[in-house]
Amino acid sequence: MTTAEACVRPDRPSLNFHLQNAAKVPDDLRHLIMDISKAAKMIHHAIRTTEAGLAGKTNQFGEEQVKLDVLSDELIHEHLCESGTVATFISEERKDIIELDPKGKYSVAFDPLDGSSLVEANFAIGSIFGIYKGKEILGKKPADQVAALYVLYGPRTVLVYSAGKGVHEFILDEVGEFVLIREYLGIGDDAKNYSAGNLRAVNDTPAYRALLNQWLDEELTLRYSGCMVADVHHILAKGQGIFTNIGGSKYPEGKLRLIFECGPFAYLIEQAGGASSDGTRSILQKKIEKIDQRTPIIVGSKNEVRRVCQVLGKK
Ligand code: AHG
Ligand code: MN
Ligand code: MN
Repeated sequence: MTTAEACVRPDRPSLNFHLQNAAKVPDDLRHLIMDISKAAKMIHHAIRTTEAGLAGKTNQFGEEQVKLDVLSDELIHEHLCESGTVATFISEERKDIIELDPKGKYSVAFDPLDGSSLVEANFAIGSIFGIYKGKEILGKKPADQVAALYVLYGPRTVLVYSAGKGVHEFILDEVGEFVLIREYLGIGDDAKNYSAGNLRAVNDTPAYRALLNQWLDEELTLRYSGCMVADVHHILAKGQGIFTNIGGSKYPEGKLRLIFECGPFAYLIEQAGGASSDGTRSILQKKIEKIDQRTPIIVGSKNEVRRVCQVLGKK
């Protein structure tokens, strides 16, 4: 008679192992995240081999799409279909909610390629995903996400996920496996780095200019690339920092979108012990009313988020 041997934890656990044994997510959610990670590997490859030009089309926001925006969107679409677990999805690159499998348990919102205008400059870019239970995302709040993740295509490609039990980081290795590099990422309460987006707003939002001056006077260090995935990853990687995208006359609610960008990052940052706010309350508590909803966002180290909200609250 043979005795079943327990699975030992490998030195470098794979994403699949981690989802199963550390996060203990349900099997169908694990399959979905693994299929998303497969799409990300294809995008990683496409970034290295596809021409950086425009696609000659615009997305729902009237923004010019680059070829890689369209390709990344299609790759994710294919892999969500393959997973057989997705009822509906919403992509930043599409106008409508797409229905996939009526029996699917989850719905996914994603920004296929964040920072895509930076491709030709060879800056880091990323993909962002928020996963909800059921077939509706509208009417829910980002707090209802059952998992959120992003993939950062930089000098190294990394995937960071949370399914409600901490935030974990994996690197794409040379055989095409995402393997664990850091577990339970944490964010300290005070920020030394700042990352200020939509800075054109300082011209008609004096409080934003006051905030900038405060950071300059206090000699915080600027770390801003123009790709939210890279800029927020900096906070998680360094364990401190603050990221803002505040409204002005061109974008009264700021430039970033609640479903595709702010919701998933608010979930990940709060899971890591940081805070998120739109100036008055947590981004996680904002009701999702429409696909193209934008929101001001302040995320990162708790004390700094509180201080920023105070400064911005003063007229
Ligand atoms: P996308 O490429 O998906 O349209 O998103 C770009 C976003 C985001 O990544 C970044 O934080 C922001 O645009 C940068 O805005 P500013 O250049 O106005 O700071
Ligand atoms: Mn984006
Ligand atoms: Mn995008």
